[in-house]
Amino acid sequence: MTYAFRAEGLVKRFGGTTALAGVDLAARPGTVLGVLGPNGAGKTTAVRILATLLRPDAGRATVAGWDVVRHAEEVRRRIGLTGQYASVDEDLTGAENLVLIGRLLDLPRRAAQARAAELLAQFGLTEAAGRRAKTYSGGMRRRLDLAASLVARPEVVYLDEPTTGLDPAKRDDVWALVRRQAAEGVTVLLTTQYLEEADALADEIAVMNRGTVIAHGTPHQLKAVVGGQSLQVRPRDQDRLPDAAAVLERVTGQRPASPARGLLSVPVAGDAALAPVVGRLAAEDIAVTELSLRLPGLDEVFYALTGEGPAGAGPAEAGDDGTADDSTGHGGGRADGAPAATARETKETVA
Ligand SMILES: Nc1ncnc2c1ncn2[C@@H]1O[C@H](COP(=O)(O)OP(=O)(O)O)[C@@H](O)[C@H]1O
Ligand SMILES: [Mg+2]
Repeated sequence: MTYAFRAEGLVKRFGGTTALAGVDLAARPGTVLGVLGPNGAGKTTAVRILATLLRPDAGRATVAGWDVVRHAEEVRRRIGLTGQYASVDEDLTGAENLVLIGRLLDLPRRAAQARAAELLAQFGLTEAAGRRAKTYSGGMRRRLDLAASLVARPEVVYLDEPTTGLDPAKRDDVWALVRRQAAEGVTVLLTTQYLEEADALADEIAVMNRGTVIAHGTPHQLKAVVGGQSLQVRPRDQDRLPDAAAVLERVTGQRPASPARGLLSVPVAGDAALAPVVGRLAAEDIAVTELSLRLPGLDEVFYALTGEGPAGAGPAEAGDDGTADDSTGHGGGRADGAPAATARETKETVA
């Protein structure tokens, strides 16, 4: 099988810290691999090795068949990198940044300017092209970073947490751009702390924790392990909690759990139960203040995959990310009583 990139048994230590303890990652050409994991999982370290910026202590990695250590030049010619270590010059304008990169890639001035204009248009930055990058908003800056990584028309693009800290509207912009790259045949390695993002964009997901890949599979396979969606209902009157629970059980055939005071949650596959639940609640005159269909949060994925909480490396520590995902406030632990797989079992189930 041919891979756009492939890492096998990567090990990397920083002093006493083992950032990678034997990591395998691979993607076929034209696919998106999502690498999902909390802060400190080793995502950036793996990306930096695949981008030739860091040597592994053990293991090997290739891009389009070229070894990242022995043939770094060949690898660099084929990749684009953006994210936590992207290097846009703050004092240059958006256009100047892109032209400069084109010139560094040995494009003739005309060609560099044309490529810059094309990317600025594609990324909605034409109007801001003449402004210095330091005046850009967070979302514009992120788009410029992305554009910068694409000047060379890479075969493989590494996007290291491209949406961390972005508000939902700007996040959607980045998602659209990732999808467009994939549609054009570019292979994308996308790191993220958000299950929802990996789910939305990735063909396959590798879940990392503490320097190892603890699960690997399609989004569907991973969600099957975690237990899929849940339907949550909060009756306005606490007195009606038992009645609401009875409605949920009658419609879904499952006994609801109560993950937080006054809240009922029941696992569902898809949205089929939503309308009947609404109908029954109305028919029985049970008013609700909350009614939602939600995906498991990253904490639940971790709980299911490891049998433990994210322990000191949790998504709650998402640094400057003020927006986080929409799964906060549900109290953390599992609500639906599905069995938690151990890391080993999960790997066997999913991989
Ligand atoms: N240059 C470095 N020096 C020392 N420790 C590092 C360095 N880079 C990463 N680490 C450590 O390696 C681990 C993995 O980090 P990283 O790859 O940045 O994780 P992630 O990108 O998933 O948040 C963390 O414990 C981090 O503190
Ligand atoms: Mg990182």
